[in-house]
Amino acid sequence: MASLPQAHLFSLILLSLTSFSISQTPLIHPNALVLPLTKHASTLQYVTIISQRTPLVPLNVIVDLGGQFLWVGCGSNYVSSSYRPARCHSSQCFLAHGAKSCDHCLSRGRPKCNNGTCILFSENVFTSKVSAGDLSEDVLSLQSTDGLNPRSAVAIPHFLFSCAPEILLQGLAGGAEGIAGLGHGRIGLPTLLSSALNFTRKFAVCLPPTTTSSGVLFFGDGPYALLPGIDVSKLLIYTPLIKNPRSVATRVYVTDPLPSYEYFIRVKSIQINGKQVPLDSSLLAINNNGIGGTKISTVNPYTLLQTSIYNSFTKLFLQEAMAQNFTRVSPVAPFDVCFSTKNTNGAYSTPAIPVIDLVLQNEKVFWRIFETNSMVLVGDDVACLGFLDGGLNQRTSIVIGGHQLEDNLLQFDLESSRLGFTSSLLLRETSCANFNFTSSL
Ligand SMILES: *[C@@H]1O[C@H](CO)[C@@H](O)[C@H](O)[C@H]1NC(C)=O
Ligand SMILES: *[C@@H]1O[C@H](CO)[C@@H](O)[C@H](O)[C@H]1NC(C)=O
Ligand SMILES: *[C@@H]1O[C@H](CO)[C@@H](O)[C@H](O)[C@H]1NC(C)=O
Ligand SMILES: *[C@@H]1O[C@H](CO)[C@@H](O)[C@H](O)[C@H]1NC(C)=O
Repeated sequence: MASLPQAHLFSLILLSLTSFSISQTPLIHPNALVLPLTKHASTLQYVTIISQRTPLVPLNVIVDLGGQFLWVGCGSNYVSSSYRPARCHSSQCFLAHGAKSCDHCLSRGRPKCNNGTCILFSENVFTSKVSAGDLSEDVLSLQSTDGLNPRSAVAIPHFLFSCAPEILLQGLAGGAEGIAGLGHGRIGLPTLLSSALNFTRKFAVCLPPTTTSSGVLFFGDGPYALLPGIDVSKLLIYTPLIKNPRSVATRVYVTDPLPSYEYFIRVKSIQINGKQVPLDSSLLAINNNGIGGTKISTVNPYTLLQTSIYNSFTKLFLQEAMAQNFTRVSPVAPFDVCFSTKNTNGAYSTPAIPVIDLVLQNEKVFWRIFETNSMVLVGDDVACLGFLDGGLNQRTSIVIGGHQLEDNLLQFDLESSRLGFTSSLLLRETSCANFNFTSSL
């Protein structure tokens, strides 16, 4: 997604970093990596496991699709013989901060350097707390894959991350030691990993729907094989990823908004059972201030809709559900629109839950949301519409959240700036739990 000159500059820098690394440790060059995903019960955060340091330590980290980079809490228990802080004015600092600002220890109110160490501000997106961390490098080890099973582990020396104060971990799922940023910036995991291992700049997430099943995260291109032998990368429908020039400008240390590293798509309309939800279409485009549009988030457990969209959406959904003789029941927080599932022989799909379509670049391309992704079971006899009112001033009009992404595979193709999606894998008789994590070696 970077413009051409930046991308060129970036590959030059990385080339020098990686060729230096290769001379120290020979790397095999797999085409893809695979990581497990789980859903944490009380926080509903998605957790993965990485191995870092010398000797290697397995770390639980929270996945943030829009995060800028990997940060981990560094306290007295950070023990590693291969840890190096990145110096000010180093190529790593340059890579993290961009060419123009790197020469200055203070730029636009943000310190870049502290006593010779390059500073990187890390954010806990769940608490919105921000803290200065040391830009650092250490060994990162991940499992390679042929797309069918995990293969040998691959160690990447000098992998860039931010070493943040441990206090920033507050609010993360118990035991989590940082946040893995999958954003599209220069030091996001997708770009760093594909550059270090020379594979294509694509990654895919398949989120688990429950806290007892697992999901899967791939870096690199398919095949993405899910039992019983379905290559899900062949099922993808594509829509362009949209650039948002600006991100949230609320961080205290920033006087100018930073570019956004999140993933935006263009939803042109919303339909329920084929009927158009009436809404102000200007909300669906991103304006010059970065407001509006649709993004995909693993931070929000449920989709958030700007108030006017929410009101219109729930009104039509209720109308369609009532026409199917659903019985509306009292709201169960945080949801407003709930139905009884009694007398449906245990299946709340009979009568049929209205089908939701996010219509994309044209009428023929839509992301269909079926009942497992639209409804949330909140008790034995109640299911609620899993969409929430994000408020009148919600910055991004539609934030597609975790529940709507579960058991769907999403591929983020940064080479071609496009999103590939499958819709519910359950209709293909597979699920995100079906990657065969038994190593074939
Ligand atoms: C700066 O770093 C040097 C060398 O590590 C150390 O001796 C000195 O105390 C540090 N100064 C401050 C102000 O932290
Ligand atoms: C990276 O991959 C490309 C295409 O597969 C190949 O042409 C190139 O030689 C590789 N570069 C390195 C440094 O391995
Ligand atoms: C809803 O209930 C009415 C009255 O009992 C019935 O006539 C109608 O067929 C039902 N509609 C559906 C979609 O089941
Ligand atoms: C999973 O992979 C292992 C290793 O290749 C294989 O032995 C096993 O049969 C696979 N499991 C299934 C259910 O296919």
